[in-house]
Amino acid sequence: MTEFDLSQTDRLLTTTKQVRKRLDLTRDVPMDVLLECIEIAGHAPMGGNAQRNRWMIVTDPELKAEIAGFYAAVGRPYLEAAGTPADDRMGRVIDSTVYLIDHLAEAPALVIPLRLDRPPSGEGFDNASGYYGSVLPGVWSFQLAARSRGLGSCWTTFHLGHERQVAEMLGIPESVSQVALLPVAYYTGDTFHRAPRRDVGEITFLNQWKNPPS
Ligand SMILES: Cc1cc2nc3c(=O)[nH]c(=O)nc-3n(C[C@H](O)[C@H](O)[C@H](O)COP(=O)(O)O)c2cc1C
Repeated sequence: MTEFDLSQTDRLLTTTKQVRKRLDLTRDVPMDVLLECIEIAGHAPMGGNAQRNRWMIVTDPELKAEIAGFYAAVGRPYLEAAGTPADDRMGRVIDSTVYLIDHLAEAPALVIPLRLDRPPSGEGFDNASGYYGSVLPGVWSFQLAARSRGLGSCWTTFHLGHERQVAEMLGIPESVSQVALLPVAYYTGDTFHRAPRRDVGEITFLNQWKNPPS
């Protein structure tokens, strides 16, 4: 027995996709809907219940265009270096990634999740894990809350190659870190489908490394 409708929660969790070509670039996203998603994201787990995460919403067309320029400056050479896609599926991901590079500035809102500290450097993986583990779960919660409201988003990081320039443009202090950038828009079309993933029995071990769970 559970208080949730598993068919709905499982569908949300398995079909919330990164939306690029299906972002409706013609329709505004109400601020109160974005704020609802951010409120929900604040309930994701975080080390020490520290609440050191912040969010920047960018809707100003000039700022979005400048950010899109930085995004493209990293994204285009990255895709060129990646070379020919291994299969059709990767080909489609690259095709939609190029589309997003071309249209990022047209997204009604760019949402940048932030953390009030710089990442730990040279202090061991446990600290890095705690650092990112305290901010990234909220990004996924935001995407799920957005999808539930008919909004598509795409988790991106290309602009981080120019994090400082974008921070200066938005007045973000040097001590604050940007961890992603999500274009957010209502999505077009009906729904999304599960993408193929490795079998759970192949990626899960019981008691000993490589020992299958059943
Ligand atoms: C840490 C991280 C960084 C990513 N950076 C980008 C990016 O800069 N641009 C982009 O188009 N997609 C980016 N993605 C989206 C991935 O390409 C996408 O999640 C992956 O192809 C699986 O697709 P799905 O999430 O729709 O199932 C990123 C995802 C993650 C988790």
